[in-house]
Order: sequence, then structure tokens, then C-alpha cells
Amino acid sequence: MLPVLVPDMPPPEALMPLLEAIARSGRFTNFGPMVGRFERDLADLLGPGAAVCTTSSCTAALEAALGVLDLAPGTAVLLPSFTFPATALAVCRAGLRPVFCDVDPQTWTLTPAIARDALPRAGAGTGAVVPVAAFGCPVPADEWSAFSRDTGAAVVVDAAAALGRQGLADGLLVAFSLHATKPLGIGEGGLVAGRDADRIARVRRAINFGLENGTVTAGGFNGKLSEMAAAVGVLQLARREDVARRRLAVRQAYRAALARLPGVRLQRDDGDAAAVLVVQTGVPAETVAAALADAGIETRRWYAPPLHRQPRFAGCRRIGPDGGPDLPVTDGLADRAIGLPFHGFLTPDDVGRVVGALAAAPDRHRPPAGGRA
Ligand SMILES: Cc1ncc(COP(=O)(O)O)c(C=O)c1O
Repeated sequence: MLPVLVPDMPPPEALMPLLEAIARSGRFTNFGPMVGRFERDLADLLGPGAAVCTTSSCTAALEAALGVLDLAPGTAVLLPSFTFPATALAVCRAGLRPVFCDVDPQTWTLTPAIARDALPRAGAGTGAVVPVAAFGCPVPADEWSAFSRDTGAAVVVDAAAALGRQGLADGLLVAFSLHATKPLGIGEGGLVAGRDADRIARVRRAINFGLENGTVTAGGFNGKLSEMAAAVGVLQLARREDVARRRLAVRQAYRAALARLPGVRLQRDDGDAAAVLVVQTGVPAETVAAALADAGIETRRWYAPPLHRQPRFAGCRRIGPDGGPDLPVTDGLADRAIGLPFHGFLTPDDVGRVVGALAAAPDRHRPPAGGRA
């Protein structure tokens, strides 16, 4: 099978000197020198004014970021249903209440315009919005910053798959994942970034048992990143341009080949460094998956079923485009979107093979419903 994802990790021999430095330092966790170095490198990557706290995962990052907003238990939080379960699970773990919205048919994200529409319907007590950088395509940070300023709702961006692409802006907290399948993955890990250093300091306290100088002054849990995991991160950031260059070449090959297939749609602004490659076709994703599996090609249906169709969230409120509970764009995407093999080790022949199998999939030429391509 041609695999859908292949982690792109630093070679073990490059890691050895850093592991030896950690052993010499005698510090293996609790914000030691390697985590400090990694956080400084991440802040450089994220641009002027960035403050960073690494975490054990993006899920922990989201929970901690939501936790420092000081919202009353049970406060409503708007988020897209078209996301990975971690987004809503983190909302629940922070003691808040998910309210699901639809997404934009072109960008596949919850936009400020959709949230502005949903906000009055969700009730005056809505405390926050969690837009998701779907599949690694960034959300407009400045527009979300303005949204937060205008509406008073806090904004925590779930940019799990968008490290290196998602920008920061005043008032936002942004959570990223460092899971092995992400473009700069380290195995397991995450971070919260923002321009408000005090808030990031509170995130740091939250992921360290709520401790401040040995005293528990706030709620918290253990969400810290270990020194050894941070060493992988230091190396990943150093090889970032090389990884990005190889992924870009594959992306461009796909884009050229897919442009010749009518009825196959890419996410708009699906940038050159997006984490995965998802297409929407006119036929059920399982039909395409079966055809590609027959051709020896693995596929993946991320964000499917969408969260409003998951039993854990069945009781959660939904606010669709017409104010009712239907989320038509999300349902269409969840049923018709499919992830194709995408990683930096694919050859032009591999890409040709995938696109050829997609072209031969039954009824693939039918245009996707809803919105222009
Ligand atoms: C949108 C989104 N949010 C959160 C997560 C959770 O990330 P982590 O595995 O680092 O907790 C993922 C994981 O893929 C994701 O896709």
C-alpha cells in the first residue's frame, strides 16, 4: 500500500549529541534548558512579540488555553463540527459547553462571518470561539483578532496542523500540535503561542499543576513537554526548510495533475505547506476509498464523522446557516472529502499513480455539491 502519511523525523544520529547534553544537564523535564531552547526557536519562528509555552499535546494546549480565559463553568463555546474530536473534547475538559457551527464551503473553516451570525443565536453568554485551521490551512489571525475585540468573545485558534503557517495576532491564543503526523512533528507534543506574555505564563502554570512558586494558585494538570521531546523539536526546526521544500514539490505535482480532473476540488488557500492533502469529489468518500484501495493506495477520512454526528456530542447544540441545527457544508464535506497520500517522500510517479486511480474511480467526475469549485 502507498501510505497516506509518513512521519518525517530527524535521523537518530543527529539526536545523539542533544541527548548527551540532556544527560549531562541532569534535567529531564520541568522546563529544563532544552525546552527553553526549543521555546526560543519556536518564538523566532512565530515572529515578533511571540510568547510560547510547549505542552505535551495540542489537546493539552487547547485545554490550558481555554482554562486561562476565566469563563464560568458551562459557558458556551462556538467551534466547527468539521474538526478532529480533540477540539471539542478540550472544550469539555475545560468545563465549557461546545456549540457546533458550519464551515465555509471554500476554506472549510469556521470564519469570522459565520461566527458573527451564530453569536446572537448562541445566546449572550457565549464566551469564546475556537476556529480550526482545517488540515493545516491557516485562519485569518487579524480578522479573528478584530472579531474578538468587537464582540468581546475570546478566540483560541486550534492550529493543530499549521505550525509554520498560522500567524499570531493581538488577543488570540493559538494551539499547535507536534504529533508525529504533523509537518514538524516530534512524536507527541504541542504548544500555546500568543502575544500576551502574561497569558502564556498562566498557561505554563496550568500545565504544571497550577503551581506558582510551590503553591497551587490555579487549576491545572500535568501537560509539560519532556527535555528529550524538546530535543527532537530543536532538530525539526533546524531542518524545517528542507522538509518544506520536499513537501512543496509534491504539492505542486499534485496540484498540476488534479487541475486536469473536473469535479475534484481542493480546499481554497490549501497552502504549499498544508499538513495533508484532502480533496472533495462528487461521490461518497467510501467509493473513492475502495477504488484507491484496490489500486494499492491508502486514503484517510479525517474529521469524519463530523463531531455533531459523534455519540459523545449528540446532546450539543448546533447553529447552522439558517439558524437551525443542520450543518449542510460540514455534512457534504464529511461524506465527500478524502485524504490522499501526501508526504515529502512521494515521487512524481507516486503522484501520477494516485491521480490516475482517482480519475478512474467510479462517477468521480460528478461535481461536488454546494459552492463553486
Ligand atoms: C484539528 C485538531 N485539533 C487537535 C488535534 C490534537 O492534537 P494532539 O494529537 O497533539 O493532541 C488534532 C490532531 O490531529 C487536530 O487535527
